[in-house]
Amino acid sequence: MSTAQIAEANQPFPAHPFSKNALKTREDVVAACASLLDPLEAGFSPECALVRVGGTGTRFDETAAQIEGYARPLWGLAALLTGNSTYRNTHIFVKGIVSGTNPDGPEFWGNMEDLDQRMVESCPIGYTLAVAGKDFWDPLTEQEKKNVATWIGSMNDKEMPNTNWLWFRVFANLGLKANNAPYSHERIEKDMDHLDTFHRGDGWSNDGPEGYTQMDYYSGSYAIQYLQLLYAKLAASFDPKRAEEYKRRARQYALDFVHYQAPDGHSIPFGRSLTYRFATIGFWSAFAFADVEPPEPLTWGMIKGLLLRNFRWWSKQPHIFQPNGMLNIGYTYPNYYLAENYNSPGSPYWCMLAFAALAQPASHPFWSSTEEPHPFTQSSSPLPAIKALKHPQHIMVHKGGHTFLLSSGQKCHYPLKATQAKYGHFAYSSAFGYSVPTGSYTLEQWVPESALALSDDRGEIWKMRREVENAQFLEKDGLPVLYSTMHPWKDVEVKTWLAPPTDDAPCWHLRIHNIKTGRDLQSAEGGFAIYGMRQRDGRALTALSSESPNEGIQSTECDAVVVSRAGASGVAELLQATGRKGGICNVDANSNLIESRTILPTMYADLTAGSTTWFGTAVFAIPTSAEGWQDKWKSEWEKRPKVPAWVTELVKAAS
Ligand SMILES: *[C@@H]1O[C@H](CO)[C@@H](O)[C@H](O)[C@H]1NC(C)=O
Repeated sequence: MSTAQIAEANQPFPAHPFSKNALKTREDVVAACASLLDPLEAGFSPECALVRVGGTGTRFDETAAQIEGYARPLWGLAALLTGNSTYRNTHIFVKGIVSGTNPDGPEFWGNMEDLDQRMVESCPIGYTLAVAGKDFWDPLTEQEKKNVATWIGSMNDKEMPNTNWLWFRVFANLGLKANNAPYSHERIEKDMDHLDTFHRGDGWSNDGPEGYTQMDYYSGSYAIQYLQLLYAKLAASFDPKRAEEYKRRARQYALDFVHYQAPDGHSIPFGRSLTYRFATIGFWSAFAFADVEPPEPLTWGMIKGLLLRNFRWWSKQPHIFQPNGMLNIGYTYPNYYLAENYNSPGSPYWCMLAFAALAQPASHPFWSSTEEPHPFTQSSSPLPAIKALKHPQHIMVHKGGHTFLLSSGQKCHYPLKATQAKYGHFAYSSAFGYSVPTGSYTLEQWVPESALALSDDRGEIWKMRREVENAQFLEKDGLPVLYSTMHPWKDVEVKTWLAPPTDDAPCWHLRIHNIKTGRDLQSAEGGFAIYGMRQRDGRALTALSSESPNEGIQSTECDAVVVSRAGASGVAELLQATGRKGGICNVDANSNLIESRTILPTMYADLTAGSTTWFGTAVFAIPTSAEGWQDKWKSEWEKRPKVPAWVTELVKAAS
């Protein structure tokens, strides 16, 4: 073994059982769920109402943070118990709900205040009461039941944010209703009527009211679709109309959402809260939970594959765990740059909602069907390779073995860390992930990954797209194109057209920019960030050469490319006379979600005050998951996309 291989292979603690789980059968998934619950035992408080998972803070109080550590794992435990499996530590979770809701006890969770984080945790608690009352309600004394009902009910007259949070109150009340405890029917009705106003059509709900578009995993797996599906099952007897409507929405949404899953199992990272990891796949698990009829061409075997492959993808990421077996904050490795100010150490356990399908017995077609590959990799894919999604303003792409999306028009409506990276980038890749800034001085810290970065102070502060105007779909040569405008400063206007790959150049997408500036600017535009070290010795990549044709870097006057064990990533300028030069930006360590050491092929140019400039950026990518990538990356790289006639016309019309 080389020192580099040893440095990759040695581990300070034994592999987690989850990382060794085959994740093929229902029994495997039960074991996976239990293996995530087991290490939490060490974090329980004396009366079991709180679970400490780590030491970092949140914008809310520490008690609420540790309630998360207690409550979020219930998403998995409750499903496991509903499916008639047993779990050895169930009793400590039951003890926790009793002591947490006892106002006279030492571990009382505290009454809910307006906009209280406790409201979020009342959702898994309400769900658990609704599906696993035999464990979590029936054994309680009358006084204990009263305490639980009082604690949950205390949220009914409090203020809640106008977002997916309203669902949490619905589930809190459902948990009480399922056990014939006092609950507020009026509250459920009011909240749901309001939540229904978030629906924009075709199964897509916004995470909040009109006025902005924020449709990320909260629209699907983390909250809205997920909870609609749970509701459809739990409320079928008393609210059949909504139950049917939610199943109908899920069937529509499924045909879009399948485009966010790559054939290797990974979901395209997009938006906030990605430390919830395999919560991104929760929609499919809820689809099984609610027993929705799969819409053609999807089958139960395909849906099973989507869920299990995602679990298996995560099982190959050993660095998601702390030495004690609990999850850490991060994505494929511990990372606080990407974390939100509300991500407590216990918050990653939102991932446990991906276990909802365990509530279905082995005889359910989800479990009894043979797992099938992703529709994209079936001999003749029944799904389109390119699909424009009107509501989230995404163009979904599966071309050249790469699953990614182009995006324009989304934003988060409150201050979020690295919000430009989470919603403003031009492209989001299942293979390369996105990159967040690590600091605020120089381009290397700002990281212009899949972004056009502009600086008016000689490179200290860089602005990247956060908010756009006029985001809209156009159609060019039979393909969808996303158009938008942004004004990073009052006297700077950038018009952008994003175009997916064509059949002639399947590994390239285009970003056409027209920049009109009233001030001197530096510009830098990156492709996808890619692992930047050699396999042989783990040292930084050096130039591509005849001795090293499949590993190295190369940049010229008009392009830049990086080839490493992660595949190939490059950028090129297609229009003449823009004065742009290719280079490799040595972006900061730990900026990328997937790889801790990345570099970024980048195009650079200076713009002078009073000028108008066209950029024709062509972005190249072949991930290692693309079959035979080493034999074909070079020919695909040399196969530059032609400048489309519609671009030539745009440039001509403007001059
Ligand atoms: C669990 O067991 C109960 C009682 O035998 C049965 O009614 C229920 O259908 C079972 N559920 C599953 C998911 O197997």
